[in-house]
Amino acid sequence: MDKILVLDFGGQTTQLIARRLRELGVYSEIAPGTASLTPELLEGAKGLVLSGSPYSSYEPGSPAPDRTAYASGLPALGICYGFQRMTHDLGGSVAAPSVREFGRRPIELVSESALFAGVPSGFVSWMSHGDSIEALAPGFTLVGKTEAHPAAAENRSLGLYGIQFHPEVSHCEYGMTILANFAIEICGAAREWNVEAYQRSAIDEVRRLSGDRNVVLLISGGVDSTVVAGLLLRALDPSQVHLLYVDTGLMRKDESREVASSLQALGARNLHIVDASEGFLSALRGVSDPEAKRRIIGDLFMEVQQRELAHILPGGYLLAQGTLYTDMIESGRGVGSNAQVIKSHHNVRSPLVEAKRKAGELVEPLARLYKDEVRELGRSLGIPEAVIRRHPFPGPGLAVRILGEVTRERCDLLREADALFIGELKERGLYDKIWQAFCVLLPVKSVGVTGDLREYGWVLALRAITSKDGMTADVFPFEARDLLEISAKITNSVRGIGRVVYDVSSKPPSTIEWE
Ligand code: XMP
Repeated sequence: MDKILVLDFGGQTTQLIARRLRELGVYSEIAPGTASLTPELLEGAKGLVLSGSPYSSYEPGSPAPDRTAYASGLPALGICYGFQRMTHDLGGSVAAPSVREFGRRPIELVSESALFAGVPSGFVSWMSHGDSIEALAPGFTLVGKTEAHPAAAENRSLGLYGIQFHPEVSHCEYGMTILANFAIEICGAAREWNVEAYQRSAIDEVRRLSGDRNVVLLISGGVDSTVVAGLLLRALDPSQVHLLYVDTGLMRKDESREVASSLQALGARNLHIVDASEGFLSALRGVSDPEAKRRIIGDLFMEVQQRELAHILPGGYLLAQGTLYTDMIESGRGVGSNAQVIKSHHNVRSPLVEAKRKAGELVEPLARLYKDEVRELGRSLGIPEAVIRRHPFPGPGLAVRILGEVTRERCDLLREADALFIGELKERGLYDKIWQAFCVLLPVKSVGVTGDLREYGWVLALRAITSKDGMTADVFPFEARDLLEISAKITNSVRGIGRVVYDVSSKPPSTIEWE
């Protein structure tokens, strides 16, 4: 497949550049900005993008691309630092000026350029830079400028383009036109990237890796593992596909039953559901320290998995998992190590995964996809919308939403309240507007009155946030009436909850979960 290779120098929006190109239908990959441009890395590449960066190009030790980036015969587009880098490396000059440009800036186009085909002079760009171009590198022509500085330039004969603004951010007018001009018109990259094509190539890959061997997938109930299950079942003989689901007793209401039925609907034949709740709850008895809870759950999870797998498939197997592109970036495997990464709790490095990776027995069919592409792939595999749109759920489950000691009774109480909360959000058409919502059971009892009696009941916190990736979060702005009605429903129908509070903390400084 044709691709645009994005060289990452640590810019805040590098991920966004790659995503925007994919939205245009052009496959894009991110590589560390300083990577050697080997034939392997350049396979399929039709063009290069040099990303932004927190560095200054004139600082000693600031990251620079392989020099062949400027003479590879491939068109290259420098964005912000990428433009400054290119200018600096090719003999122009970059400096920290007195006028810095942040936010919306109109750009006057002063000469014709294929990069700006269809873009009117005076369009409003979006900038975020301290340094500016003082003098263009020899051979470059000025294409656009702000009131203060050069904003775009090109060296047509070398196929080098530079822009000081960020076409990838949604506030930049004509940003997609400019990216399309570069990727499709200037680089000639084919628009081959779509989920159907990805599905076909992922299926081929799974078949090639697996042959007639058994493949095991650990199911969490979340969208990623469900989509991998759907792919495996489509690619292989269902009798080869073993799905293992461990019920820790810390799952949401009816979760295990729903997981089983959605996997059966996808054609699963070897579904191994292990009820390990007794073991988890007894290991957690008397423990209230959050880190200790996480450790106990993580270790026990691994132990149960190993035991079950040895029992189910004593003869060996391939392991599949739902690693995403962002997880790959985080672990620095093959992609930009400078990239601003998304915290992922999913990719906990277990010895099992590491051993399987070493043995070449690890199948990761989502490893080139972003989360929203996984959802799209899930839809194309016929996975129900309810699973695809389900809010994220942490690995340690309800244990990190029950502050203090975790007991079966507390889990049951929280499950009831949470199911009611989520049900209300769905009924009110709010569920899909919220990135994640859940209840937290606080280790506090407060006084209430029921009839003529004083009663001590638990305090329940509601959490509902908006977010893009879980890295930062805002409080969901409920209408007061919704909150009041939901609160009343919970205290009226979940016996044991005496009081409901709403958590109005953003992240940062708070985290999304309470533990
Ligand atoms: P925090 O609380 O760190 O959460 O702001 C960010 C996102 O990550 C989820 N989360 C976890 N997911 N294992 C997981 O699989 C974990 O241990 C874990 N802790 C937090 C959390 O639900 C939110 O979506």
